[in-house]
Amino acid sequence: MPTFARNQWYVAAYGREIGRELFARTILGEPIVFYRTETGEPVALADRCVHRRFPLSESNLDGDRIVCGYHGFTYDTTGTCVAVPGQNRVPRTARVPSYPVIEQDSFVWVWIGDPARADTARIPRAPWLADSGYATVSGMEPLAARYELLVDNLMDLSHETYLHGGYIGTPEVASTPITTEVDEEREIIYVSRHMDDAECPAFYSKSTGLEGRITRWQDIEYHPPCLYLLHSRIAPVGVLPREDGSDPDAFHVEVVYAITPETEHSTHDFWAVARDFALKDEGVSEFLRENNRTVVLQDVTALDILEKVVAAEADGYQELSINIDTGGLAARRFLKRMIEREQEVRA
Ligand code: FES
Ligand SMILES: [Fe+2]
Repeated sequence: MPTFARNQWYVAAYGREIGRELFARTILGEPIVFYRTETGEPVALADRCVHRRFPLSESNLDGDRIVCGYHGFTYDTTGTCVAVPGQNRVPRTARVPSYPVIEQDSFVWVWIGDPARADTARIPRAPWLADSGYATVSGMEPLAARYELLVDNLMDLSHETYLHGGYIGTPEVASTPITTEVDEEREIIYVSRHMDDAECPAFYSKSTGLEGRITRWQDIEYHPPCLYLLHSRIAPVGVLPREDGSDPDAFHVEVVYAITPETEHSTHDFWAVARDFALKDEGVSEFLRENNRTVVLQDVTALDILEKVVAAEADGYQELSINIDTGGLAARRFLKRMIEREQEVRA
């Protein structure tokens, strides 16, 4: 049984990572080379020359074509070989797979599965990341752990109290119960934790300037497999959204993760923090960038350890789950179902 669904959109990179240099990244076990055409369109091709497997990412761009750095096989943006050395006839089978890619919300998304099924309308959105009404900091940390461990981690934020104490964790995160809703049809999982009277962690006191206790809402929206959104609302205690739905007295932070398997045992952990306040304040950006990266690295350290534990254990280990795990268990069920659906199609 494969461990990830191929017929899904995954974030391959930030748009800023891909340009006129050839860029290599492995997604779902497939080595891929990315670049932009002269008009700026992103391209994704299998990173292995059809001739003797030389990585195309170690080769050269000639206009919109890649010229293999070993013997010069030349590929167009569709992966079709258009020239080979020493003969005019290009073998009909000389082509490398090309992958559908689309740029949206500052990410470059890639489709690894059956290209005929790549419907861009199904890509979940994170509009804040490319919205001038928000200021965003972002990064990507490599994780030496299977993506399921990151999904588990993000679906249960009670770990903030213990793993991220002094950064984003306060006692109230672990002690406040959650509510979980599962939209079976649209395959979205919602986990909410609303803290009415909570300590303000440094992450929010230093960025918002709020002093004293706060109302802190965490509303998770997970679109399996790849996109995880945490809508975070911070306000002085007792300050609620207005009746018309507007919320001018609160601070809003949209925390976005894209969870992209690199291999069965490693993951690209993309993170972004978009805020609707202090938009021009570079000091706040720098603080949130550094602080959030530290928090992500705390998770990376823990999950890298967990991966070793899980990889070494005998089959059949029985975990114990409690209420905080409801969202994580729903996520596992959806991910398993997505993989099973693909197996049925193939059978
Ligand atoms: S390996 Fe690419 S041309 Fe020979
Ligand atoms: Fe964490």
